[in-house]
Amino acid sequence: MLPSQPLLHTAVFALTVLQALASNTFIAAVYEHAVILPKAAIKPVSPDDALALMNSNMDILEGAIKEAAQQGAHIIVTPEDGIYGWRFTRETIYPYLEDIPDPVVNWIPCTDPTRFAPAPVQERLSCMARNNSIYVVANIGDKKPCNSSDPSCPKDGRYQYNTDVVFDPEGKLVARYHKYNLFIPETQFNYPKEPEAITFETPFGKFGIFTCFDILFHEPAVVLVNKLQVDTVLFPTAWMNVLPFLTAVEFHSAWAMGMGVNFLAANTHHTSISMTGSGIYAPDGARAYYYNMKNEDGRLLVAELDSHPRLSAAFPPAVSWSSYALNVERFSLNDNDFGGLIFHDWFTFTELTMPEGNRTVCQKDLCCHLSYKMSEKREDEVYVLGAFDGLHVVEGQYYLQICTLLKCKSTDPETCGHPVETAQTKFETFSLSGTFGTNYVFPEVLYSGVQLATGEFEVLSDGRLKSKHGTSKPLITATLFGRLYEKDLPHPLRNVSIP
Ligand SMILES: *[C@@H]1O[C@H](CO)[C@@H](O)[C@H](O)[C@H]1NC(C)=O
Ligand SMILES: *[C@@H]1O[C@H](CO)[C@@H](O)[C@H](O)[C@H]1NC(C)=O
Ligand SMILES: *[C@@H]1O[C@H](CO)[C@@H](O)[C@H](O)[C@H]1NC(C)=O
Ligand SMILES: *[C@@H]1O[C@H](CO)[C@@H](O)[C@H](O)[C@H]1NC(C)=O
Repeated sequence: MLPSQPLLHTAVFALTVLQALASNTFIAAVYEHAVILPKAAIKPVSPDDALALMNSNMDILEGAIKEAAQQGAHIIVTPEDGIYGWRFTRETIYPYLEDIPDPVVNWIPCTDPTRFAPAPVQERLSCMARNNSIYVVANIGDKKPCNSSDPSCPKDGRYQYNTDVVFDPEGKLVARYHKYNLFIPETQFNYPKEPEAITFETPFGKFGIFTCFDILFHEPAVVLVNKLQVDTVLFPTAWMNVLPFLTAVEFHSAWAMGMGVNFLAANTHHTSISMTGSGIYAPDGARAYYYNMKNEDGRLLVAELDSHPRLSAAFPPAVSWSSYALNVERFSLNDNDFGGLIFHDWFTFTELTMPEGNRTVCQKDLCCHLSYKMSEKREDEVYVLGAFDGLHVVEGQYYLQICTLLKCKSTDPETCGHPVETAQTKFETFSLSGTFGTNYVFPEVLYSGVQLATGEFEVLSDGRLKSKHGTSKPLITATLFGRLYEKDLPHPLRNVSIP
């Protein structure tokens, strides 16, 4: 007797699952997408026009998904706002939204498109996953009607959510995540009343998902890693780069390392507002990344990762972040400390006037120690050691402790902290540490040209960020970016901007 088609399909799928179970690695893909934006509109467009724009973006995403599958990828992440862009009010985004059901309903939109219709976007995404036997991660908009029986129901009678969806290789909806930490201009969306910690199991590890600005906060990002023990984080984003500490490739790779997880970041590509930088990051460094301010092309990245990074030999040791710094004397008492702003935060700096040395700079509870040796002390470049301990209040509120070795924009100390993309000074050694009051410290090392220093630095278990054998390229910054979540304000308040 011949097996029926569904049985055959199940058998093939089961075999694939078993093969994946047998291997300890998987292939991940992320696609940086130059999203086709709608024309800025005052009135909502028709549902057909909205779908036409979304289809033109999905045409491009479909090409990337096919290509990723051909290269053997098991999962692909596409960016936040990657299907309709970002120029919206509450009203003008409405025709782009679909009602996205809770995944417990067990729905394959590709084979059962009318069950929660109209849902043409979910149907197409589901078919792309199913046709190519690949997990597809996308970001779309969810709408949920509400009424006066709910006192917080918005006046227009519906909640609108910035939403990530995941379809498995059969096309089934397996995850839905409503973004909790909306960025300030996202007035078209509501945030869910409670943060959602969304995970799903695969044959290649446990996955968690959150979106863009969420990465700066405790919920749900830290909860997914520390409490729910995910192996890999999926991260659709529309990230505007801010040097020196919050450039996408730099901060996202640092978060993967600081938290000890794989991290799949897919950014939109739109250079006029500094959106570029996607990557496939493991806890010990980037496996692949893309940063390109020179053209408007999308880019597919594909790389292999450990399914369970915590079990791998390369997994970095646990770090006690203040252990070294609390146990040494101040390296120096400086009479030349000065202040300066980095992205609206008032740092205390000390200039590195000598080609090598041991320096300390302090602010409030944080003292930062640096031992360094430059390959050559250049007349035309100034580096500082800087410390900041305080609440950041512009474009979101979050409490920071930061130690940084940083190149100034020019030789004028007034420019220390201004964004700078290139440098000429290499270091033979650096070792940076700080008296952090948190376990959440993200180690960043950025080279000239906004390049990552993958494999060229390490964090010792006593909290020192050290170069391994000197820097192969000139250094823009080596930074320990610490977050004190318990000093943050309660959730809805911290979106307020006080310039
Ligand atoms: C999936 O495959 C079917 C049948 O081959 C085809 O009709 C459909 O257009 C495909 N859809 C997508 C989104 O790839
Ligand atoms: C609106 O309110 C009624 C009760 O007043 C309730 O039965 C209904 O489910 C509500 N609809 C929505 C969409 O919340
Ligand atoms: C910095 O400190 C180290 C160890 O404490 C010492 O070996 C080195 O000579 C010092 N460097 C300078 C330039 O003072
Ligand atoms: C912050 O969030 C609250 C609650 O949703 C909202 O009322 C307020 O307008 C927001 N503030 C800004 C600056 O977006």
